[in-house]
Amino acid sequence: MGPRKIIIDTDPGQDDAVAILLALASPELEVLAITAVAGNVPLPLTARNARVAVELAGRTVPVFAGCDRPLERALVTAEHVHGRTGLDGADLPDPSLPLGERHAVDVLIETLRTEPAGTVTLCALGPLTNLATAFRRAPDVVGRVQQIVLMGGGFFEGGNITPAAEFNIFVDPEAAQTVLRSGLPVTIVPLDVTHKALTTPHRIDRFRHLGTPVGQAVAGWLDFFERFDVEKYGSEGGPLHDPCVIAWLIRPDLFKGRHINVEVETASDLTRGMTVADWWRVSGRTPNANWLREVDADGLFNLLVDRIGRL
Ligand code: RIB
Ligand code: CA
Repeated sequence: MGPRKIIIDTDPGQDDAVAILLALASPELEVLAITAVAGNVPLPLTARNARVAVELAGRTVPVFAGCDRPLERALVTAEHVHGRTGLDGADLPDPSLPLGERHAVDVLIETLRTEPAGTVTLCALGPLTNLATAFRRAPDVVGRVQQIVLMGGGFFEGGNITPAAEFNIFVDPEAAQTVLRSGLPVTIVPLDVTHKALTTPHRIDRFRHLGTPVGQAVAGWLDFFERFDVEKYGSEGGPLHDPCVIAWLIRPDLFKGRHINVEVETASDLTRGMTVADWWRVSGRTPNANWLREVDADGLFNLLVDRIGRL
């Protein structure tokens, strides 16, 4: 069987960029396209940053810009976490890779219509606006998706942008609800698992000790990215969110979860974007997502260092 075909939908963000590097360094995956969405920083920057990551990997995967705001709400960004550029921590040149001319939503639709049905996995690392817009505009493509793996939500860990909500879901809860109600196989990588994948100083040094430009950039990004969570949680490092999505595709054995029902709060201001994860199966609602809760963190970082060391 050949490599798994994926499209990465992303809002780089240092952790998104590391996820992109992992995907491009892994022969198990074929990245058909990268679609940028507004999230951590505005769309012009996420579209730039995705190309920075692709060029750092020495690849030429096409990058396309998608939605610059959520379906119904005003955009909320996270410069307080990722810095003004979204990739603070490493000083990298502007990309020479041109931005694709088509809109990312059109690329999602056209790719899903062109590739054989059931062969493309969507990896969502940011707000789900692009995916939801594609599904609403072209319902025929929904059934052609093999599966969705997304970083978002939290239950046992609560939220990170509000007490109740994780950032990706909070930014566009209506989009998240559309994706979770699509009927597709969805694996969710929530804060419950990413908060167990901490970028400790020792782990960051492993990237720095690779002695490569890529390793240097990753170490700089993670040094910058972790400061917010270390200060907030008093943890030994920052949670490495988005690479867990790609790592699960490559090594699902590193993770554990449960197939449960997950719904998104869209009506309440207080709990907007909360993922109501029925881990204890008390709601009677039909399970619609594989909710991950455990990770072999050492195994995850061994995979990351090994693969990124190949770039
Ligand atoms: O809450 C963490 C998520 O929000 C990650 O995907 C991070 O990159 C930001 O998009
Ligand atoms: Ca992200």
